[in-house]
Amino acid sequence: MASDTQPGQSTIENDWLKSYWMPFTPNKAFKAAPRLYERADGFHYHTSDGRKILDAFSGLWCCNLGHRHPKIVDAMKAQIDELDYSSAFNFGHPKIFELANVISAQFPGDLDNVFFVNSGSEAADTALKIAIAYHRLKGEGTRTRLIGRVNGYHGVGFGGISVGGMVNNRKFFGSLLPGVDHLTFPYDMATQAFSRGEPDIDVEPFMKELEGIIALHDASTIAAVIVEPFAGSGGVFVPPKKYLKRLREVTKKHGILLIVDEVISGFGRMGAANAVTHYGVEPDIVTMAKGINNGAVPMGAAIVRKEIYDTFMDEMPTGVEFFHGYTYSGHPLAAAAALATQQAIAEEDVYDRARELAPYFEEAVHSLKGEPNVTDIRNVGLAAGVTVASRDGASGARGGEVFLKTYENGVAIRANGDHLAIAPILTMGRAEIDETVEAFRKGLRAVA
Ligand SMILES: Cc1ncc(COP(=O)(O)O)c(C=O)c1O
Repeated sequence: MASDTQPGQSTIENDWLKSYWMPFTPNKAFKAAPRLYERADGFHYHTSDGRKILDAFSGLWCCNLGHRHPKIVDAMKAQIDELDYSSAFNFGHPKIFELANVISAQFPGDLDNVFFVNSGSEAADTALKIAIAYHRLKGEGTRTRLIGRVNGYHGVGFGGISVGGMVNNRKFFGSLLPGVDHLTFPYDMATQAFSRGEPDIDVEPFMKELEGIIALHDASTIAAVIVEPFAGSGGVFVPPKKYLKRLREVTKKHGILLIVDEVISGFGRMGAANAVTHYGVEPDIVTMAKGINNGAVPMGAAIVRKEIYDTFMDEMPTGVEFFHGYTYSGHPLAAAAALATQQAIAEEDVYDRARELAPYFEEAVHSLKGEPNVTDIRNVGLAAGVTVASRDGASGARGGEVFLKTYENGVAIRANGDHLAIAPILTMGRAEIDETVEAFRKGLRAVA
């Protein structure tokens, strides 16, 4: 339908906003008071109403090196002049093979083979399909059940929401995949509030729960367990020390694949290439997206252990070995951006810098303890979650207001209900951390 108002006008009367149905956004509230980013550079966004906003959320956990990084911009411009698109089925282009090698070099053990997709959601669904198909090819076709975790987020595909554990993302969408169990989330705010890093609590009760689920269904029916290293979208909740290691041991003992979703923890957020390296764990499949190419073009991937890849190659000796893939898998522009991103990460010591900044960041965010309504603060690497008390009968309202006040103070963070999150650009310095925390503090103080 034709619009009779002009872009740039920004009130609800201006119907040029009306046709776009925004994802995961309160559309009506946004269109009444839009926040439109027109440009970005480095650590900042520039809005249509002339404001400069410090990006303390790396876009959406994406732009770990900041915006319009010159090396990434140059690589993308050069790619456009060279090859715009090449079919991902039955054809390839050199950069995507090169990228797979660059990615696999950053993962431990024999995590070697990379399947490219276009988002974290696709990466999660791809990983779940690989797990189920792998067992079938190994002659264990009864292993179809999946185990996720309460408060987990694995994107919005039917696979991802089935194993995911965020209630609003599930409850509207019917019966989801059958045969899914969920582990308890290993964080109890009542006893662990204001933990720094991984809480130092006993993980064995959580392993006992997993053993109980396995005993109930029998291991021969279970394909995979999928978890995030820390629950990012759920509000930055960090599992206890040794959790992932023990999960690896228990899953391995029962022949169950362990899938670790590194869509936000990958590529530096933990001060390491990925969380599995940081925790010294070798899962069977790891999913990734976002920071893989600094969010410049949609891209995701699932990396699998060589034995999984070899099983597909050996058991399907002719023709297509895995009946799965996307038109835009390994898109040349995404690949060029990813190669430039990975090169910039190495040249600019991004993982080391993030690791060095993390203790300062931890101190800074925990200085918010004692501010109005703050009931918990958590952090890991360069990620932090701050929870404010919910108002009676209006869960999420206070968090939304703190987010808006912080934005008015010139800093973009993120709110998921009453959980607020900070994910600074990994190359920021102490000054930007201070600016973020002070804007947040003012935001908290401005909200009753
Ligand atoms: C752990 C995790 N998995 C999957 C996704 C979904 O990624 P996408 O939005 O690219 O589909 C996200 C997004 O934030 C995520 O945090």
